[in-house]
Amino acid sequence: TPDPRLREIMQSLTRHLHAFVREVRLTDAEWQEAIGFLTETGHITDERRQEFILLSDVLGASMQTVTVNNEAYGSATEATVFGPFFVDGSPLVPQGGDISFGAAGQPCWVEGVVTDTSGNPVPDARIEVWEADDDGFYDVQYGDDRVAARGHLFSGSDGGYRFWALVPRPYPIPHDGPVGRLLAATGRSPLRASHLHFMVTAAGMRTLVTHIFVRGDELLSSDSVFGVRESLVKDFVPQPVGGVTPDGRDLGGREWSRVRFDIVLAPA
Ligand code: DHB
Ligand code: FE
Repeated sequence: TPDPRLREIMQSLTRHLHAFVREVRLTDAEWQEAIGFLTETGHITDERRQEFILLSDVLGASMQTVTVNNEAYGSATEATVFGPFFVDGSPLVPQGGDISFGAAGQPCWVEGVVTDTSGNPVPDARIEVWEADDDGFYDVQYGDDRVAARGHLFSGSDGGYRFWALVPRPYPIPHDGPVGRLLAATGRSPLRASHLHFMVTAAGMRTLVTHIFVRGDELLSSDSVFGVRESLVKDFVPQPVGGVTPDGRDLGGREWSRVRFDIVLAPA
């Protein structure tokens, strides 16, 4: 039996596709090229990846989907794209622990409180965090088995959390394949605005997948996957060298920063 929802989706897609073909007056050669491009995008490489999600990301379709599905969650923290670099089973760190595990970058103290939309603390929320290092790579991109710049911790009884991470830096999405060629041919940069990923889960709450961005980053207005939301742009405040850290840690004269990110979860 026909699926009514699928019929609705396909009828709308067809209508928009026809309008698009008429609007740009697509030539036969351009249509051929598009088919070739899509074929290559779906081709599985030696590293067993293909680029359909990446294409959806750079077209802004992934972020549109996230946005549409967040309209119902009013005052909860905004979500953004998941990206391909989350890994299940990251190291557990205690409150105040360091998720960098030796990855290169400037230490950053991250703290906040997890609450529900009425402002009540959410204790025991699982907070997963991951980020690229200062060379622009996630641990999984090195092709060895290192685990770095990722970890998880649990909010305390007052909903509070705190940990050491790295000040995020810009990095490019993979651009050595067909999607990278498309970006180059249309004069677009593959760089993502600097960000730190979060995934927060708690009993009875909607899972939040988001990142925080760095206020002042020049890439905020040209993020290659359109993931930036103003409410997610945070002040990463540089601290005086040699200044006392919140946990009295000795940073050996290195520069460091701190940022606050309060997280509001919607009910499930
Ligand atoms: C991220 C990386 C990507 O390659 C992408 O397409 C979307 C997001 C990221 O790590 O945030
Ligand atoms: Fe990322």
